[in-house]
Amino acid sequence: MKLLVISYSQTGQLNDLIDNCTKGIGHVDIDRIEYKPVKDFPFPWTSDEFFEAMPESVLEVKTELEEINYKHEKYDLIILGYQPWFLSPSIPTSSLLQEESFLSRVKDTPVVTIVGSRNMWINSQKSISKRISAAGGTIVGNIPFIDQHNNYLSAFTILHWMLKGKKTKKWGFLPKPGVSDKDIDEATDYAPILNKAIQNNDFTNLQSEILKPGKISIGSGILFVETAGRRIFKIWAGLITRLGTTPKKRRFFIRLYKYYLVVALFFIAPIVVMVFRLLVLPFVYPMINKRKSYICSTKLT
Ligand SMILES: Cc1cc2nc3c(=O)[nH]c(=O)nc-3n(C[C@H](O)[C@H](O)[C@H](O)COP(=O)(O)O)c2cc1C
Repeated sequence: MKLLVISYSQTGQLNDLIDNCTKGIGHVDIDRIEYKPVKDFPFPWTSDEFFEAMPESVLEVKTELEEINYKHEKYDLIILGYQPWFLSPSIPTSSLLQEESFLSRVKDTPVVTIVGSRNMWINSQKSISKRISAAGGTIVGNIPFIDQHNNYLSAFTILHWMLKGKKTKKWGFLPKPGVSDKDIDEATDYAPILNKAIQNNDFTNLQSEILKPGKISIGSGILFVETAGRRIFKIWAGLITRLGTTPKKRRFFIRLYKYYLVVALFFIAPIVVMVFRLLVLPFVYPMINKRKSYICSTKLT
């Protein structure tokens, strides 16, 4: 059995999740690859650099990656670790998914995705699913990890992490940003599940086994915000690329987007989500639940 485990991580969080999910997988020829863009993204980010990444993340514009030296031409399973950026696959991830050398290995190959996100990974998973099936591969498992804290709190604390470079408690008392240490440690719970499927070379029931411990869930409010957000981000991304024809103009529109996002996320979204929860959710609950179980399955399109 040849296993390719491939990822890009800025802070190492995703790599810790992958290490724990694959702990103790034995009798397998593992090719562990950490790839990087030729011009890597900064960490910590400045505020401008962070928001600068939005249009190309959303439009999935390819950046050049350093050459990847694979051990094999083909693998029996690929584990792809990734993180969402602006409700889309991170630029390194969407670039990998546009690399011929990677896509040829995806063809006719089962793929498991491990996601290290804040809490909004659904749209990026959808895009990744599409790219993998277009390349002739099949997603047989998806293990998303999120920051379990309140959406507004985690948006605030993640900015502290991304802009200061340290996964520490903002002001000494707010919760630590990102996936919690407990959830990172307990990612080892998925290792025996993956190991069993790998040893049997049978991935038919992998996703239902991944869901069995009951740790993967989707909040209705988050699903609602993410769905609306994705559409709005697309409009902004198009606007910025069309009107930001000089660095100065682009900076202006990026800053406009940044202020829009702060207002939308912290002031408009709470009101809209509350109205949605009170007036709409009770009527569409069965439909939303169906959508959630569909998303948790691997058939996302
Ligand atoms: C530019 C940028 C945008 C991000 N946007 C999102 C997002 O839309 N949804 C989300 O759940 N997390 C988002 N995150 C958090 C990342 O998905 C990820 O959890 C975090 O950056 C740590 O990943 P790492 O393993 O690469 O260090 C974003 C992070 C960055 C740097």
